Amino acid sequence: MTREHEKIQQPSLEDKRDDAALERAKGEYNTAFWDVSALLHEQSEAENIDVNVQEISPVSDAKKGSAAREAALADLQAAAACLRQGETVAFPTETVYGLGADARSTEAVEAVFAAKGRPSDNPLIVHIAHRDQLHELVTEVNATAEALMAAFWPGPLTLVLPVRPGAVSPRVTAGLDTVAVRMPDHPVALPLIAAAACPVAAPSANRSGRPSPTLAAHVREDLDGRIGGIVDGGPTGVGVESTVVQAGDDGTVTILRPGGITAEQLSAVAARVATDPALLAEGSGGDSTSPAPRSPGMKYTHYAPEGALCVVEGPPAAVAAWTRAALAEAAQRGERTAVLAFAEHAEQYRADAVFSLGDASELQEAARRLYAALRSCDEQGATYIVAEACSREGLGAAVMNRLLKAAGNQLIQVG
Ligand code: TXA
Ligand code: MG
Repeated sequence: MTREHEKIQQPSLEDKRDDAALERAKGEYNTAFWDVSALLHEQSEAENIDVNVQEISPVSDAKKGSAAREAALADLQAAAACLRQGETVAFPTETVYGLGADARSTEAVEAVFAAKGRPSDNPLIVHIAHRDQLHELVTEVNATAEALMAAFWPGPLTLVLPVRPGAVSPRVTAGLDTVAVRMPDHPVALPLIAAAACPVAAPSANRSGRPSPTLAAHVREDLDGRIGGIVDGGPTGVGVESTVVQAGDDGTVTILRPGGITAEQLSAVAARVATDPALLAEGSGGDSTSPAPRSPGMKYTHYAPEGALCVVEGPPAAVAAWTRAALAEAAQRGERTAVLAFAEHAEQYRADAVFSLGDASELQEAARRLYAALRSCDEQGATYIVAEACSREGLGAAVMNRLLKAAGNQLIQVG
């Protein structure tokens, strides 16, 4: 074979790209897997990772961790390199796993939408590791937004701010003149984003419509073979997504999506906290006259298990009586039943699968367990599912928002 010939035989960059896209669409792409849980074992050592620098290196030689830790740091570098090269990489945050991509690259961001099967009019949250990255993304941060960042970053709060033209791919903002930004509070996410040295657009790392992933195994279930890689950093802590807010110049903070930071926490910092009226219409049989939500993602049915799910709300005794009767009737009809209940009732229900959401007065536990329980309903093949409602205060606002979405708004009031 002549040299000329060899050149002709070489696949072009475009061919390679087409091949990769085809493999991804078929779920046959080679997804890398990095277990970096060694970075979590000694929380205090997280301080050794300097998120200001673009290289990840343990700062103190004396404290240099074990071989496992060294290997995990190398894995994190590999994952960051993937992001820099325009690949999609799933990673843990304190809320749920995200599917990250370089927010500046339209091609990378399109791969996120494709892997998730996400509607293109639903914008993405951009994740940063350091406040310095913010001014590159937005044109203006008012005093209220500043106060919120000072109080809750890093943490589960996303701010919708005026986007700096050209700062991110227009696919990230879905054509809006705002961009949603957050700085996650996680010992894997922060150094990964810092090492990637780019703003990282990351929706939750689930197939669109499915419950958000709180374990790397959930990401694998949904996206293995469709994305560049998965960074496993163990179970996420909060379990529901960040709170999305917009801070008005008059000091009003409007909640566009309830989440990990509660309205009560926001009230301690902001003069006035309001909720997007479109959210208040939920659970009251929101009809076509309801206003469109300001957070485009809130209009979609999410998290829905395959079986029919309803949420029951009322005085505890009435909820328990209704649920017992409904489960018994469903079993009679030959349904495979499941129930999501708080600890005080969980033991008295008879169903094919009973999931405890923990103590009704400790909703952190409910938030942490909710998505895994919804996924398990599918694994158990449940066809009829009842979930007990919880208080809508504190984290309960986010838990009820997600439950009602999963139930397609099937709320039953009893008592
Ligand atoms: O906790 C979280 O926020 C997780 C982790 C991975 O960080 N991410 C997450 O992303 O939940 P996603 O894409 O599943 O949800 C983003 C929400 C959607 O409801 C979207 O409509 C809204 O944020 N959003 C994004 N950009 C927006 C904007 N410019 N204006 C209003 N809402 C926006
Ligand atoms: Mg999501």
